[in-house]
Amino acid sequence: MSQYRNIPQHIAIIMDGNGRWAKQRGKDRSEGHFAGMMALRQTVIAAAQKGVKYLTVYAFSTENWGRPQAEVDALMELVCKGVEMNAAELCEQGIKVVVIGERSRFSEKVNDAIERITSQTAAGELMTLVLALNYSSRSEITAAVQSLAKRVAAGELQAEDIDEKTITRSLYTASMPDPDLIIRTSGECRLSNFMMWQASYSEFYFTDVLWPDFGEQALQEAIDAYASRDRRFGLVK
Ligand code: IPE
Ligand code: IPE
Ligand code: MG
Repeated sequence: MSQYRNIPQHIAIIMDGNGRWAKQRGKDRSEGHFAGMMALRQTVIAAAQKGVKYLTVYAFSTENWGRPQAEVDALMELVCKGVEMNAAELCEQGIKVVVIGERSRFSEKVNDAIERITSQTAAGELMTLVLALNYSSRSEITAAVQSLAKRVAAGELQAEDIDEKTITRSLYTASMPDPDLIIRTSGECRLSNFMMWQASYSEFYFTDVLWPDFGEQALQEAIDAYASRDRRFGLVK
């Protein structure tokens, strides 16, 4: 029973290909994003049922602000809609939602939706769903360096006491394990500024499936591929 062996504790997904999915169907890119939200819903439930403990999804990068305003607006609206459509089920399933990224650039409406979903699901114990919104790895590391520099300047921390643990604890992902498996859909093979510190020893899985077509079966295929990998962490077996 492949689905019960060697389940990654933390899966992170770069959800890519919504635009191409829409284009193939002669639809607007925003429809691709909506279909992507439905795929996320399926994937979240499937991951939780398979025993994954953390599922991180890259939903909006700091670079994505540079897209046409109408698309940015549609994506922001989708955050609110996604909360509205899925809050009850996430609560029922015991899925806790947390958000990583810089929130000050979001409208009040978007921040209210984030606040609502994170507080409503705070008691969930089955799985943690981490939404990366206005996230990038470089901005995360920059914020961490700033916070550490302030602590050193205030005399709370000695520069020579900064080690890998100190840095890990200063990132948005402070309380989470590193991703065991990073999945990227749509055939692109790059990180696009995602979790560069945390991915040091992650396994990578690239699939041509466009994100709106992803679901339980595609997730199982990724988990099966992960299960066959030999993680050595620089050691000799
Ligand atoms: C991923 O799909 C969603 C976001 C980046 C917000 P894209 O919108 O990047 O889809 P493609 O890459 O243009 O097909
Ligand atoms: C990465 O996808 C960001 C998200 C999935 C949110 P992009 O489509 O923005 O990345 P590039 O432009 O192909 O690198
Ligand atoms: Mg893309």
